[in-house]
Amino acid sequence: MIPSSQSQESELMIPCGKQDEGVLQKSTSRVSATFKRDDRLPQRTLSDEMFSVPIQLSIFEHILSDDKGPDIETVAMIRPVAEQESETESDTENARLELNQLFVECTFIAIVKPPSPCTLSLDMPGRLENKVVLVTGAGSGIGLESSLLFAQEGANVLLVDIHLANAEKGASLIAERFPNVKALATKADVGKEADVKDAVNLAVKVFGRLDVMFNNAGIMHPEDDNALNTEERIWDLTMQINLKGVWWGCKYAILAMRQNSVDETKGLHVGGSIINTASFVALMGAATPQLAYTASKGGVLAMTRELAMVHAREGIRLNSLCPGPLKTPLLMDFLNTEEKRQRRLVHLPMGRFGEAVELARAALFLASDESSYVTGADFTVDGGLSSAYVTPIGEPALAPPASLI
Ligand SMILES: NC(=O)c1ccc[n+]([C@@H]2O[C@H](COP(=O)([O-])OP(=O)(O)OC[C@H]3O[C@@H](n4cnc5c(N)ncnc54)[C@H](O)[C@@H]3O)[C@@H](O)[C@H]2O)c1
Repeated sequence: MIPSSQSQESELMIPCGKQDEGVLQKSTSRVSATFKRDDRLPQRTLSDEMFSVPIQLSIFEHILSDDKGPDIETVAMIRPVAEQESETESDTENARLELNQLFVECTFIAIVKPPSPCTLSLDMPGRLENKVVLVTGAGSGIGLESSLLFAQEGANVLLVDIHLANAEKGASLIAERFPNVKALATKADVGKEADVKDAVNLAVKVFGRLDVMFNNAGIMHPEDDNALNTEERIWDLTMQINLKGVWWGCKYAILAMRQNSVDETKGLHVGGSIINTASFVALMGAATPQLAYTASKGGVLAMTRELAMVHAREGIRLNSLCPGPLKTPLLMDFLNTEEKRQRRLVHLPMGRFGEAVELARAALFLASDESSYVTGADFTVDGGLSSAYVTPIGEPALAPPASLI
């Protein structure tokens, strides 16, 4: 611990020690500095357990840019004068907060984190650190948002889509924003067994293992209709992609996950997590039918439950993700008039369609070890739709979260 002190405006320089990867580390030094209060930075509170002071601390977060100290994230802690007075800790002796002024003088404690260029939080290391994820349908909607979120959480990602250019755009975004992980795009039609097998083998070949398989690609055909009007070719195509594609994704993921080596120091286990995207229509009937689509998603639910049982003692978890209606091309291309949109919106308790990023967050939970006791679930993320009878009126109070794209 090298006590040092420096004072400057706007710029924040904290002489941190060497990074201790993966561990939140209490300061290597303390400095007293003056900086411009920046209201854009989140102000947060922490429990006292990280610090040897029995009160809550105000936090300003600041990430040093590359030229000032690569890979070092710092958190500046300030304590209001009023709270300090009863405190004798030397850490806070220099702290002084002038609340009514633009500049605040305070004591900083540096906290060193592993490289994570996109997080401003005090979270643990990425929730998918060191893991390998394969996402199908990664060129758009849920798959694209999930690929970015998984990468942000430390995973190496294979983005698979029938439209290679879209998957490649996703991989480029990841390379740009999250240089600490690897991303690769490949073309595959999940309706072809050989393509799915090749994609899984590619993930293992390039990244060494497969921890998470997100069988997410799916179609909703515009000619899909009711029992009388749906043609057999539409039925077969839909089943081929939405149901058989998921079966093959499970099959080759299970084979790959059985080969996973164990390194508990890196959070790597045997087995893995398989997430299959179903839909709320597998749980509820709609008088706006797409029979083949609905039947295929019901199949995904039933198949996932059964596979979850078969592989429960191998460390392989399988869950279905059941999105409600989302603002993604898949649905919005179809709901192309205000009348069609309103026909659905009246049934949505929150008064809005879901966003792909909201499904990505749920998928992240199912992908990570945080869901270690979750398997065989119909994991519904539908804004309350499947619990609804009469929905409220009025405008939604909260705006949806921003996309990562
Ligand atoms: N959007 C919704 O309202 C909604 C609701 C419930 C469930 N879902 C399901 O969520 C999943 C993702 O949908 P989305 O809303 O993100 O749609 P999207 O259309 O934005 O993305 C789907 C992606 O899958 C790809 N894809 C289509 N067929 C493929 C194939 N044969 N092989 C490989 N890739 C293929 C597409 O190119 C596209 O990039 C789908 O399974 C869909 O059925 C969507």
